[in-house]
Amino acid sequence: MEKVIILDFGSQYNQLIARRVRECNVYCEVQPYTIGIEKIKEMNPKGIIFTGGPNSVFAEDSPSIGKEIFDLGIPVLGICYGSQLIAHVLGGVVKTAPVSEYGKTEIEVDTTSALFKDVDPKTVVWMSHTDYIEKMPEGFVNKGHSSVCPIAAMEDVKRNIYAIQFHPEVMHSVQGQTMLYNFVRSICGCKGEWKMDSFVERTILEIREKVGDGKVLCALSGGVDSSVAAVLLSKAVGKQLTCVFVDHGLLRKNEGDEVEAVFGPNGSYDLNFIRVNAQERFYGKLAGVTEPEQKRKIIGEEFIRVFEEEAKKIGAVDFLVQGTIYPDVIESGLGKSAVIKSHHNVGGLPDCVDFKEIIEPLRMLFKDEVRKAGLELGIPKNLVFRQPFPGPGLGIRIIGEVTAEKVKIVQDADAIYREEIANAGIDKDLGQYFAALTNMRSVGVMGDFRTYDYAVALRAVNTADFMTADCAPLPWDVLQKVANRIVNEVKGVNRVLYDCTSKPPATIEME
Ligand code: XMP
Repeated sequence: MEKVIILDFGSQYNQLIARRVRECNVYCEVQPYTIGIEKIKEMNPKGIIFTGGPNSVFAEDSPSIGKEIFDLGIPVLGICYGSQLIAHVLGGVVKTAPVSEYGKTEIEVDTTSALFKDVDPKTVVWMSHTDYIEKMPEGFVNKGHSSVCPIAAMEDVKRNIYAIQFHPEVMHSVQGQTMLYNFVRSICGCKGEWKMDSFVERTILEIREKVGDGKVLCALSGGVDSSVAAVLLSKAVGKQLTCVFVDHGLLRKNEGDEVEAVFGPNGSYDLNFIRVNAQERFYGKLAGVTEPEQKRKIIGEEFIRVFEEEAKKIGAVDFLVQGTIYPDVIESGLGKSAVIKSHHNVGGLPDCVDFKEIIEPLRMLFKDEVRKAGLELGIPKNLVFRQPFPGPGLGIRIIGEVTAEKVKIVQDADAIYREEIANAGIDKDLGQYFAALTNMRSVGVMGDFRTYDYAVALRAVNTADFMTADCAPLPWDVLQKVANRIVNEVKGVNRVLYDCTSKPPATIEME
């Protein structure tokens, strides 16, 4: 199979480059820069991309690479640090500038270069560097510059080596995808026959080979990531897989049954499915607890305990499946920022179960790629396009103490809200939306009677990355309809509020 390899020199964007290459329908893998020439030859790639990285090429111990890689006859594209490395290794000169060039920058490129075919002579790219190439190695020709960067692009067509100072992979580089397309499809000559279903097929084969006749355990939440991971495993090893689905009683209305309908004994997949109805157990642990972090911790710990008990019943397993996706990998890698909320998901599991190895089939994919794989695997659309739902579930959408009665209120209110958003045809336009139960009770009047009931808060946000979010301006008639239905249909609610804060200063969830 045609493939391009990305040698990682420590860039934050390594998987983003991989994703852009995959968008050109070319399979690609990120490998450490230390992989070695023999392994590269063995992999027989059609092209090699050097990523950026935080170092200076001339600093001691900075990541480097031997010259022989340029003699393999395989096209090479260096990005940022990668471009400086090409210059440095092949005898050019790299210097440190007194000031960094950072952000959107207009560059002028020579459009006769194969790399810049269909690119405008003046194009905006994303720069992020302090070092720059002062002198090109022999054989190279300058193909682009900015007002402060004299060599923003250079090439040696004879040896098929291309180097660019900017980052074509980020969205701010307006024609960056065209450049990457030119590299992988024209310069490397890839046909572009790879599709997401090849990912699915290949991953199934790899899993089968790895697992052999071993036993596999998966914590299934019903969310898109764990569902796609479970289906991949089920297609690969069938009944060798056991999925444990813990219903903690904090799921959305009917959600437990929906998950069971898809994955359970009457569902569509070949796997062992265990649903643990642990609602009462969780409510018991949460009784009287009002502090948000404490609630999160209790739910997280209890989840692990329930899972552990089930795992013990199953006995020794060889593999544990996790639905880790690429953004989880980056987030856990950073790990330096302040803890705003302690997130609970299957990331907490490995210590509690005895197993030989973790399988993370989605580790290289972004969310939308996971969804594409889910569709390829025939997972129902409503599951594939589900909104994100926090591990602690409704426990953090009920302010204050969690009780079975409050769970029912928020489930019913949320179901109405979701139904009306879908009826209005705006569900696809929103990042995330849900109803929460405030801990506030207030006076109202219904019929001729005084009421003293809860207020439900509605939230809807638009967001690209869930790190920041804007409050979504929902149509007034939709809000009114939802409010009317909630107070009329949900017992215990006499007021509906709309949360108009963005994140920051608020967060998306209430707790
Ligand atoms: P916040 O409330 O931090 O939420 O603005 C950002 C996104 O993360 C989701 N979220 C969680 N996801 N475990 C999860 O797996 C959690 O504990 C958790 N808390 C929040 C939230 O729904 C939103 O999409």
